[in-house]
Amino acid sequence: LFMPERVNSKGFDLTDRPTLAQIAHDREPLRTKTWQAAPLVVGRKGGSSDARPVLNPANPGDIVGQVEATTDTDVSTAFAAAKTWDAPVSDRAAILNTVADLYEENAAEIFAILTREAGKCMPDAVAELREAVDFLRYYAAQAKKNDPRPRGTWVCISPWNFPLAIFSGQIAAALAAGNAVLAKPAEQTPIIAHFAVSLMHKAGVPKAAIQLLPGDGAVGAALTGNAQVTGVAFTGSTATARKINSSMAKHCAPGTPLIAETGGLNAMIVDSTALPEAAVRDIVNGAFRSAGQRCSALRCLYVQEDVADKLMDMLTGAMDALTVGDPWALSTDVGPVIDDLAHKGIADHIAKAQADGRVIHALKSPATGHYIAPTVIKVNSIKELEREIFGPVLHVATFKSSKLNQVIADINSTGYGLTFGLHTRIDDRVEYIVNAVNAGNIYVNRDQIGAIVGSQPFGGEGLSGTGPKAGGPNYLPRFGKSSVTPTLT
Ligand code: NAD
Ligand code: ALA
Repeated sequence: LFMPERVNSKGFDLTDRPTLAQIAHDREPLRTKTWQAAPLVVGRKGGSSDARPVLNPANPGDIVGQVEATTDTDVSTAFAAAKTWDAPVSDRAAILNTVADLYEENAAEIFAILTREAGKCMPDAVAELREAVDFLRYYAAQAKKNDPRPRGTWVCISPWNFPLAIFSGQIAAALAAGNAVLAKPAEQTPIIAHFAVSLMHKAGVPKAAIQLLPGDGAVGAALTGNAQVTGVAFTGSTATARKINSSMAKHCAPGTPLIAETGGLNAMIVDSTALPEAAVRDIVNGAFRSAGQRCSALRCLYVQEDVADKLMDMLTGAMDALTVGDPWALSTDVGPVIDDLAHKGIADHIAKAQADGRVIHALKSPATGHYIAPTVIKVNSIKELEREIFGPVLHVATFKSSKLNQVIADINSTGYGLTFGLHTRIDDRVEYIVNAVNAGNIYVNRDQIGAIVGSQPFGGEGLSGTGPKAGGPNYLPRFGKSSVTPTLT
């Protein structure tokens, strides 16, 4: 839906020294602040006794705050209090735009929380704030055009890896359509979620229209297994999406929509005509930026064997220039993984490859904190990856030009279909491969992360998701009873 009156957030230019200095200055007093998070449920009585600390993944001795967990009583109180947002669509859109403005005004605090709670390096924190703001303004603008009618109460469940952007995007779409929302953030990132919902209330979203229920998967299960749910928006792992799907089939009215955006086993093909410098830059970004903790991240690189030695030399050289460490430092490129459990799963995978002699290159991790340093593992095919390794681990295979169809078949055989990258300078090959690979988002001669709201609707197929792409014209209509069918103009 082309909306010339809407513009994306201008964000912050991190190549501009005064901008960087200002961010560092504004963020500094928040280096030791502790925040409090709790359920934001209308009519909630008292606090729960089991507040737990939220720890910094870069330094588990740093307590970022405390969070009170949601109880079963909070869940039933929230359902009873939930009320659709009956204001005219123009008022809802105006308030969502105010939320976006408040996010931007509170950028320093948002950056501090994203870094200390989620381990985000500064460029990722800046990109995340921008994406959150873009989602809010995009769905607000789209709602004004489509005037969707609410379905009722939506449950929005989000992951820790985009704890502001995906959290806000799901909620913004549901609210823009006038629904009531019960939002459950990931257990690892309740503080940024509490901060965001407080700003939504401050902007004027009614408290009965957006309630916050922090907690673990059990809270998510209680919310999605409730007959009062009229829709679920979920982003997270494919395994959790399956559980939610079965629970909804048992407990919710037939036809209750589930929008699930899930994991990926994403590949990139680099052929012998590719510009090696550009390919290496995009491989490093795709595989290691955000410590590889993006659903869109590059997991398996296929390099044509004629250029493999040269490309791998350049790649390992570029990796050696990365700074791995505390994401609070503005010069850091790769921060920690989210927690101990994530660390163990990835470290086990690397240890197995190490034992088999398949680790081609690995950087050194800092001694404390949940760090996994960027690592490259040799494989023969993407089919050897049994699961999504959600960290800075790149698997590399080589291929002969005559085996290109086999490579494509192997990529498609995973059943996932989220992102795919291609580096080549042959136009016919672009057309052939792009048509043959199953993936929701395909990127040619660039990296495969960082889809832009409104320009690059994001979402996968197969095991990677149920279809409507976030930040595109078909997402908002799924949250409401739309009076206008979206068209691409
Ligand atoms: P996860 O599935 O473990 O958790 C996601 C959310 O689901 C959390 O809030 C969690 O508490 C909740 N949850 C867990 N069990 C539940 C249950 N039984 N019922 C209801 N809710 C439950 O995923 P994660 O580790 O937080 O996030 C990483 C995953 O998310 C990766 O697989 C990644 O690829 C995927 N992801 C996908 C996209 C996308 O747009 N396709 C974007 C970001 C992340
Ligand atoms: N939308 C995020 C990206 O494109 C997941 O990297």
